[in-house]
Amino acid sequence: TVRPLVIAVDGPAAAGKGTLAKALAAKLGLPYLDTGLLYRAVARRMVNAGLDPAGDASAEAQALQQADLARTDLRVPEIDRGASLVAAQPAVRAALLERQRVFASETGAVVDGRDIGTVVFPDADVKFFITASPRTRALRRHHQVHGGTPLEETALEAAIAEIVARDERDSSRETAPLVQSPDAILIETDALSAAEVLEKACETVARWKARN
Ligand code: CDP
Ligand code: CDP
Repeated sequence: TVRPLVIAVDGPAAAGKGTLAKALAAKLGLPYLDTGLLYRAVARRMVNAGLDPAGDASAEAQALQQADLARTDLRVPEIDRGASLVAAQPAVRAALLERQRVFASETGAVVDGRDIGTVVFPDADVKFFITASPRTRALRRHHQVHGGTPLEETALEAAIAEIVARDERDSSRETAPLVQSPDAILIETDALSAAEVLEKACETVARWKARN
């Protein structure tokens, strides 16, 4: 085909979207785009300017630079929350929409986020919705950040509450909420390793390729 392959990977926080999208991109020889970084970088600009990320972030979204996306301090709890606050603002989403589309238009891409299959690339060739229980996801994020350090039950409960609160904000906003696209393939990953999720996704892509 002439049109490059676009694969959408959506789902709630710490479900394994990035892990799958990156591996799939490497396997298929496609670029990978982590759209969460865009919202994180906008939140980082707000916080560094002494502004509340719940306030109007449209100027920061407009001013976003490539270098902002390479920062190392984007994956901290303050920015998890800040990103979901700026992401609820329609003007911020509008400012970021075109650069997401341009990224994939010439080469194709594997793109992960919340609204990729619904809003950014509604015509994506293959769409995945990756999920797991809040407990599983809180544990995954903990291990990702803190390695083998054990997590006490009270700290785990707090981490679960944070993840649920962020998912609720992402799902209940009016503009581009987190929702499974009707044509997305659902992968429940509680009982699956990252390698098993990749295998399932590769089977889906192979079936799609056989039909097209
Ligand atoms: O991108 P997203 O926030 O959805 O999640 P991630 O950063 O890709 O994955 C969170 C953590 O879960 C990483 O440490 C993965 O290695 C781990 N994990 C996974 O991605 N998939 C599984 N089936 C099991 C664990
Ligand atoms: O890795 P994790 O799933 O924890 O978060 P992320 O994918 O980096 O996204 C951070 C926040 O950005 C999310 O909670 C959403 O509020 C927002 N986001 C969004 O609204 N739309 C996207 N396409 C990607 C992220």
